[in-house]
Amino acid sequence: MRPALFRSLLGLWLLLPTPPLWAEVPVSAAAVREAQQRLAGQLIRTPLLPSPLLSKLTGAQVFVKLENLQATGAFKERGALNRLLQLSPEERKRGVITMSTGNHAQGVALHATRRGIPATVYMPESTPVSKVERTRALGATVVIKGATFDDTAALARAAAREQGLILIHPYDDPAVIAGQGTLALEMLQEQPDLDALIIPVGGGGLITGCALAARSIKPDIQIYGVESTRYSAMAQRLEGRPVQVGGTTVAEAIAVREVGATALSLLPGLIQGVLLVEEDTIEWAVAALAANLKVVAEGAGATPLAALVTQPTLFAGKKVGLVLSGGNLDHAHLADILRRYKGTLEDKPPVPVPKPLSKEAISTPLAPVARGPYSQAIRQGDLLFLSGQLATDPKDGRFRSDLDIAGR
Ligand SMILES: Cc1ncc(COP(=O)(O)O)c(C=O)c1O
Repeated sequence: MRPALFRSLLGLWLLLPTPPLWAEVPVSAAAVREAQQRLAGQLIRTPLLPSPLLSKLTGAQVFVKLENLQATGAFKERGALNRLLQLSPEERKRGVITMSTGNHAQGVALHATRRGIPATVYMPESTPVSKVERTRALGATVVIKGATFDDTAALARAAAREQGLILIHPYDDPAVIAGQGTLALEMLQEQPDLDALIIPVGGGGLITGCALAARSIKPDIQIYGVESTRYSAMAQRLEGRPVQVGGTTVAEAIAVREVGATALSLLPGLIQGVLLVEEDTIEWAVAALAANLKVVAEGAGATPLAALVTQPTLFAGKKVGLVLSGGNLDHAHLADILRRYKGTLEDKPPVPVPKPLSKEAISTPLAPVARGPYSQAIRQGDLLFLSGQLATDPKDGRFRSDLDIAGR
């Protein structure tokens, strides 16, 4: 192993192993360019918008890449489709399998179905009904098995072996990583003088592909990952610490325990580091993107703006590209965030004080509409929300939800 010097955000210099020089590089900038050619004309070309309002608010020159505008509401289609387009005719006939609770599942389902490739998606038992239904509606066979994501992943791997299906890993597959990198190629092709990119990190596929692509165009560009403080698995692994994560998070799409081996081996030489953001700041960023840019970001997609306001001095005066990676946030949850952060958006970004729901706002379960383990009804004034998937976070008393019905 050839050790590489890597500076952690705590200011410590770390020696991390990188693959030996003679090892085959699993994915490269050239693979990202090939992916761009392969995907040309098959996905929505999402805009990279300048945001004068967010620039004024943050002191940086802000550009936002709107991946919430992809057909499934997230960038994940890029990697999924790049992998699907490299299947042999025989593999296409047998079909593909994956494990995911959300955006990757929908990316695989949509593009496999469009091409007549049978797709099976394994989802953990706790997956909200709405996500299961959306993935089924896109044509995939959904198998709900496994208490945790790791259990589900193990079952999907076993099924792939037994049934001879091609496993499309959500983030630890070279073709998936190369596909995700096309997002940064587009950003730099449009704005070649971006000084920095801020990119959400789950398993690390997105940031790895983007970093390879962006550095091939602008070698001195600064690249920062973002994680929620509750799920800082990549930051911990890069610092050589054992992973400790847990709790509820509004950025559930990047709440990952096991990061990708490929990302872990490549990132030390590619990125400045991983910034951590608090839950309140992520929610504030969701509200700020809606209020200022008029776009819906899910928690994960709002983390780059949250990182920018958490570390303003790192980016002051710089031309910064934020990757708004997805917009799949249920409407009642969005409404709740907008209501709570109203009035804090025009000021300099805080790290805002949360306003938890009052105790009276949460009533007892309503059996007739109950479809999931956390079913409850929530009353706010004369508004009633009913759902199969509601949970109250014991830490701050706020509800996390996947709401189905809201009425007066
Ligand atoms: C909206 C969104 N943003 C960011 C990510 C992180 O991607 P990766 O797991 O490749 O790091 C995901 C992953 O599912 C996602 O759905």
